[in-house]
Amino acid sequence: MFITFEGIEGSGKSTQIDACAQKFDACNIPFIVTKEPGGTELGKMIRQWLLNPETSFHHHYTELLLFIADRLEHVETVIKPALKQGMIVLCDRYKDSTIAYQLAGRQLDESIISLLNNLTELDPDLTLLFDCSIDVGLSRAKSRAKLDRFEDEDRQFHEHVYRTYQELAKKHSNRFHIIQADASIPNVQNQMFQVLSTYIKQLSL
Ligand code: TYD
Repeated sequence: MFITFEGIEGSGKSTQIDACAQKFDACNIPFIVTKEPGGTELGKMIRQWLLNPETSFHHHYTELLLFIADRLEHVETVIKPALKQGMIVLCDRYKDSTIAYQLAGRQLDESIISLLNNLTELDPDLTLLFDCSIDVGLSRAKSRAKLDRFEDEDRQFHEHVYRTYQELAKKHSNRFHIIQADASIPNVQNQMFQVLSTYIKQLSL
């Protein structure tokens, strides 16, 4: 099973993936945790370029192509082999991030994004959307270390990303589950495990 975690900046998905990993360990469920960008050795380098606030790309398509390069290597060398071995893959961001950030945030061409996103045909079985307001998310992000290149974008960019996640959740309602991520960490965790337990029988609550 391939599960992706999506959300705006500061939506708390990384904290929840950690909680999920601990729970899976406790229930003896075989899994891997991975992320985009940065799920491979090459991806780690790409991630540095993409997130560093000092990087200035002269073309938004450079950014898009780096995310796609990261994904292609990641799918072939990490995600597909793990799925083949029967493991559950917990992935922090995937194709929906490209739609939210590059299509809506950067306003790039839909047909090009769709073509590039479809270079790998693998789609998630389940996507958890951690839904919190932009204000809550950004204030959480700002309370951490230095802002990265995306966190530092203007308000309109974040609004486009937010709105697009809501649209994606409606469009793919069979695979998306919305988790109310404005709540406390234990409450968010509880919502997440409730959803996961309907898919994964070995997950004891
Ligand atoms: P991330 O690791 O998700 O950090 P955070 O924990 O702050 O959310 O950061 C990855 C950044 O990359 C995030 O700002 C979203 C962006 N991104 C895209 O713009 N497009 C993509 O296709 C992916 C996978 C990520």
